[in-house]
Amino acid sequence: MTRLLAARLLKGTSFRAVRPLRATSFQTRLFTNTQQYDAIVLGAYTDGPKVALAASEGITSATRQTILDQLAVANFKKAGDVRVLYNVGGVKQVAVVSLGKSLPADQEAKAMESARTAAALGIQALHREAVERVGVDVSVDAHGAAEGAVLAQFSFDKLKNPKSQRKELFVGPFSTPAKTQSGLTWESGQVYGTSQNLARMLMTSPANLMTPKLFTEEVAYLLAGLENVEVTVHDEEWARRNNMNALLSVAKGSQEPLRFLEIHYKGGKENEAPFGLVGKGVTFDSGGISLKPSNNMALMKGDMGGAATVAGALYGISKMKLPVNVVAVTPLCENMPSGKATKPGDVIKAMNGKSIEVIDTDAEGRLILADALYYLSSKFGPKSVIDLATLTGAMDVALGNVFAGVFTNSDDLWKRLERAGEMTSDPFWRMPLDDGYLKEMKESLVADLNNLGKGRSGGACSAAAFLKEFVAGLDSPAEGEEPKETNDKNGEIAWAHIDIAGVMDSQSTHGYHIKGMSGRPTRSLIEYARSFNK
Ligand code: BES
Ligand code: ZN
Ligand code: ZN
Repeated sequence: MTRLLAARLLKGTSFRAVRPLRATSFQTRLFTNTQQYDAIVLGAYTDGPKVALAASEGITSATRQTILDQLAVANFKKAGDVRVLYNVGGVKQVAVVSLGKSLPADQEAKAMESARTAAALGIQALHREAVERVGVDVSVDAHGAAEGAVLAQFSFDKLKNPKSQRKELFVGPFSTPAKTQSGLTWESGQVYGTSQNLARMLMTSPANLMTPKLFTEEVAYLLAGLENVEVTVHDEEWARRNNMNALLSVAKGSQEPLRFLEIHYKGGKENEAPFGLVGKGVTFDSGGISLKPSNNMALMKGDMGGAATVAGALYGISKMKLPVNVVAVTPLCENMPSGKATKPGDVIKAMNGKSIEVIDTDAEGRLILADALYYLSSKFGPKSVIDLATLTGAMDVALGNVFAGVFTNSDDLWKRLERAGEMTSDPFWRMPLDDGYLKEMKESLVADLNNLGKGRSGGACSAAAFLKEFVAGLDSPAEGEEPKETNDKNGEIAWAHIDIAGVMDSQSTHGYHIKGMSGRPTRSLIEYARSFNK
């Protein structure tokens, strides 16, 4: 076992986080103080031809009037409209974004989303060659504004010619933050946004530069120096000793050695049970012997999105110093065809002793998660376990890229996730977790389970039902075994499987959602962990 304390710096590829201005640079005097910001992003409420700037402070009345006069002749009226004004009040560029009609004060999640989108649209509209330091209006919602500003700045151009690389802007808060119920701030928004950008960066990296080994090094590097975080990297030998044959069976077709990343964050009380997180980390999914068609196969570099969002969330949770304990594990491997690869029909015995007939080597995610889920749920006594995986194309068919699907045995866990998703506008939809979907996977002639439901119907649901068989305490009785006597829901471990295949990437840029790998739902995971802090 290689043990890497997070404090040890590893050389990794660099990650472009948005550099915040120091807290002392917070200025509400702007427009009369050009040394701080040379561009400003402002929100404005529009109601027909009536326009009102959201910020009540930081703008002199003369400047305010100049802005309103210019907007009056710029046909500025619908939510999402953006106009860039030049040389106003001593600032080179002012991007004004319409927020639509004003919102009632008690709708924090809506205000946050409005601020998120407005900050992103404003930043994207600036002519960035000419400016460096951007003040972002925080008067609607500071946390949302920071998230939008940070998320809109993501780019992955380090592999391009330096001349075509996009310039990074400094962003800082402008005007007076709105009071909130949640206690979220500009600083928390920066952390949430940066965490998602981190997941985006891991997912976007090409598979030759983000192998299982490089993934662990990169994550250890990113978490280095964070308080209460310990990173351990396990290798193939360790997986063998732990009987993780399902993971080993997927990894063995590849030349790249597998890794199993284990991260502990101890922000809570010494003996408090941890939250468990598990992330699918297939750094490239070719399908194996059941080879995928070449169409869009390149997207399968993002098949480690579960592992990436878990790593991003751990970064955020520890940066926020949340008072919780977390254990996160990510099994990492490539799924490749070769003379050594697992073949359709091969039978393996997973860590929990169940035998699996591998009917389709492209249904590999459930195999590596089987061992990771059993390892985490049987070893660390977690209060709850959430796994994230780009698991099935069927999930994309069912929900597209708006909601991620959640399969869970716990109403409480569902409610918290649902609420967290509302706050972040990275939402979840509950899907059925039911043994009815398991039947067809119990019909193997030679093993306890096969890894493929019959036909394509309900593919996301059968994958979830399969995974349940590997969560300690939740598996259904084997053939010939008596069913468990009690059906005591209270005694059960709370588990949620989140299929993120549909939200893995976005085809187009709109606001803070940008084209490419999404890093979703990193922010919702941090918000979920924060919800225990209230
Ligand atoms: N990684 C894929 C699922 C996927 C598809 C993720 C599209 C993101 C976008 C997964 O390993 C897979 O290949 N699933 C198969 C399962 C099938 C063989 C039961 C699928 O969805 O076709
Ligand atoms: Zn696959
Ligand atoms: Zn896959």
